[in-house]
Amino acid sequence: MKKVLVCGAGGFIGGHLVKRLKQEGFWVRGVDLKHHEYTQLPADEFIIGDLRDVQVCKEVLKDIDEVYQLAADMGGAGYIFTGENDANVMHNSATINLNIADLAVKMGVKKVFYSSSACMYPAYNQEDPDNPKCSEDSAYPAAPDSEYGWEKLFSERLFLAYYRNYGLEVRIARFHNIFGPEGTWQGGKEKAPAAICRKVAEAEEGGFIEIWGDGKQTRSFLYIDECIEAVRRLMESDFTGPVNIGSEEMISINGLAELVMDIAGKKLTIKNIPGPVGVRGRNSDNKLIREKLGWDYTMTLRQGLEKTYAWINQQVQAKKKVAV
Ligand code: NAD
Ligand code: GDD
Repeated sequence: MKKVLVCGAGGFIGGHLVKRLKQEGFWVRGVDLKHHEYTQLPADEFIIGDLRDVQVCKEVLKDIDEVYQLAADMGGAGYIFTGENDANVMHNSATINLNIADLAVKMGVKKVFYSSSACMYPAYNQEDPDNPKCSEDSAYPAAPDSEYGWEKLFSERLFLAYYRNYGLEVRIARFHNIFGPEGTWQGGKEKAPAAICRKVAEAEEGGFIEIWGDGKQTRSFLYIDECIEAVRRLMESDFTGPVNIGSEEMISINGLAELVMDIAGKKLTIKNIPGPVGVRGRNSDNKLIREKLGWDYTMTLRQGLEKTYAWINQQVQAKKKVAV
């Protein structure tokens, strides 16, 4: 039985990946700073540990065939675009990746999946909200708009260097805003889909919700199950990447808010307020992944949001009950 390690298993994507890998029959070890907040994971082993620590990395990599490296110091716009977390984001995530790449070779790991981000694409191609460019070959000249994006670009290059110099098999994906149940929905690290679902669920009928920026900035969002399917296909393929994993259904952020309100059946006013906004426009370009893996997104944004809103609404109502 193949033994796999999921780094960041206590997080959103890592948690879903552990469940999928167990369904497929892998022996799974998870590692994270914390247990998963929202679900009981079926991992064969779960180690609480800090991957910035070389000794912890040595321990968790023992007897492992393949690694999914999802651990990172990350969050949505409210965490990565304020500037306040730049040093930690760069130091923490780069240290994890430096440890994992080096020890994977030394400890005989056969393959490593690395989760990069669309945030590594140059800001100059994402200034027009209606026409952003995020094809894989548009990465250079590099000009990410955040330190988070620069670290991702550095770590892509790091894993590729280990591939060239030491023959470490690597698979690199650039995720475009992944959302769904069991993801962060409060506390400051949540991304727009979860934040907006929470705000709508908390608002009184006829009230308002706050949206950062003018709301005309655009993004695309990929539902978690589709992301996991693409990750597994990439890992089993002979394609190294980097490759986009995202949806091409682009929408403005005010449009996203309208969609969530419609799903919730609530009529609310949108108040656009100053806040961390990031690039003006971003959309996945799936030409390469269609060609190399035969994968494409199949769910509409609405379908994914219906499931996500239902879950977040449940969390909001449960929290309200505890408060009274
Ligand atoms: P997440 O924050 O839910 O999960 C990351 C996990 O890593 C967390 O549980 C965290 O505790 C853990 N971690 C952080 N530092 C650690 C350390 N020193 N040692 C051990 N564990 C540590 O985030 P996610 O949404 O599941 O993202 C997973 C990966 O995908 C990340 O690398 C992220 O940058 C990347 N990514 C995610 C998205 C997205 O939209 N969710 C988009 C682009 C890229
Ligand atoms: N988080 C959040 N919360 N964003 C909001 C809110 C809010 O209440 N209101 C409006 N927005 C706007 C942000 O200002 C931003 O312009 C847009 O919604 C999207 O924000 P996020 O979903 O937080 O982040 P992002 O799309 O800019 O970047 C995310 O995706 C990357 C991959 O595509 C982040 O999660 C990155 O970590 C990730 O790598």
